[in-house]
Amino acid sequence: MQRAGLAGLGSVAALWLLLLLALASLAGLWSGRIVEPGILGARFPQEARRPPGSEVRGVEPPPEAATSRLLRPPSQAAQKTFRALLTLPGQAGEPQEGPGESGQEPPPSPSAPRSRWERLGAARGAAEPLSSSSSSPVRGGIFWSRALEAQVPPGFSAAAAASWLRAAREGRVVALERGACGRSSNRLARLSDGSRACVRYGINPEQVQGEALSYHLAGLLGMQERLPPVALSRVEARGGGGGGGQWASVREELRGSHWADGAVVSLARWVDNLTDVVAPAPWRAEAGRRLQPLAAGELRGLGPAQLVELVQWSDLILFDYLTANFDRLVSNLFSLQWDPRVMHRATSNLHRAPNGGLVFLDNEAGLAHGYRLLAMWDKYNEPLLRSVCVFREATAQKVRDLHRHRNAAAELLRLYRTQEPLAELLGFLSDQQAQLLQDRIDLVHKHILHCKAKAAAGAL
Ligand SMILES: *[C@@H]1O[C@H](CO)[C@@H](O)[C@H](O)[C@H]1NC(C)=O
Repeated sequence: MQRAGLAGLGSVAALWLLLLLALASLAGLWSGRIVEPGILGARFPQEARRPPGSEVRGVEPPPEAATSRLLRPPSQAAQKTFRALLTLPGQAGEPQEGPGESGQEPPPSPSAPRSRWERLGAARGAAEPLSSSSSSPVRGGIFWSRALEAQVPPGFSAAAAASWLRAAREGRVVALERGACGRSSNRLARLSDGSRACVRYGINPEQVQGEALSYHLAGLLGMQERLPPVALSRVEARGGGGGGGQWASVREELRGSHWADGAVVSLARWVDNLTDVVAPAPWRAEAGRRLQPLAAGELRGLGPAQLVELVQWSDLILFDYLTANFDRLVSNLFSLQWDPRVMHRATSNLHRAPNGGLVFLDNEAGLAHGYRLLAMWDKYNEPLLRSVCVFREATAQKVRDLHRHRNAAAELLRLYRTQEPLAELLGFLSDQQAQLLQDRIDLVHKHILHCKAKAAAGAL
């Protein structure tokens, strides 16, 4: 409250009133989130800023970094909230304005100097034979080289995911623990096959639906290996029906959970030993600056590990744009308002597996929830999308196909129904949400064409 000293006593009172009003409205914006009295500052706007590994560590003690974040001084949290208030809606730290509506082509920016990153891509990619790309990270102006893609650490293979999903659906939940899976309504489940899962109970059903649909959208886009497998389950402590037996062993724990009987929850496979991920240079914006696409000098200086990580980030940013997931990089960007170095800190809901591969965790803010809050978050989502002009070619092709056939929602529904036995229980995207998904696919496709055109022009 250091600024209170600058104001008169009346201003202090007014500020407190303002604080209370804004907290109330912010809590409303984050609808569906549990806002626990006393820790609002620590949880907002990054409820997801739970300690690293909290999604992923079982009964082991959290790592050093996790402990230090848990112990963030309350005064810091309170100050953050206060400063958020003073700057809302985002002004100084706001990334460049987007067009504000999805489904529109990003406004051309002829005056913006072409980034060295793009020039490099254009210069190298245009003349580069596809097969000898080992020295160039970019080919065709806008695609990651195949050699680079081949180095991306494997994630969850389709076979491993399918086998875990089968075990999770057929097995029993033998224990439920608190505290390891984010929000206080979630639980860490131990399954009868010995594996573990984060069980997410949505305050709002759209969150569970978002988790499941985001997982299948990742499948549709060919990037599902980066997400832990997700299955739906109906919680029925009293047995009866096929699902009843699954929860029978944890009746006592369920009683303490306050979950509605019959609720549909998501089970996401728990992954051991994940670590934090800080956004790479292109997105390491400081408050008041625009997002900078990676410059050629930085690209040249980057080692294979950094380039391999950027390959995965390019997918992540497209994925989060398509799902309008504000609970990852976007929530960090939002925090630039009061934390100028937030982009140098760990990214919410993104972790690194022991093999170096990125893991996109906790996607419940995607789709329905994110689409409901587009007005608030697209001014962050869109600049992020536009900051990426290098893509995995397979992802770009998938986007192009979904754009040409205009069937993004239909394909998503087909996958969801085929692969999720409980798909019918949560319903699907509304017609309006389905249209938003298609609009966002179309916008991503246009953006890729825009990058391609810029790259070609740079090669002249
Ligand atoms: C996780 O880390 C612990 C401690 O270093 C190690 O014993 C264990 O094998 C690791 N688990 C996995 C799956 O890598």
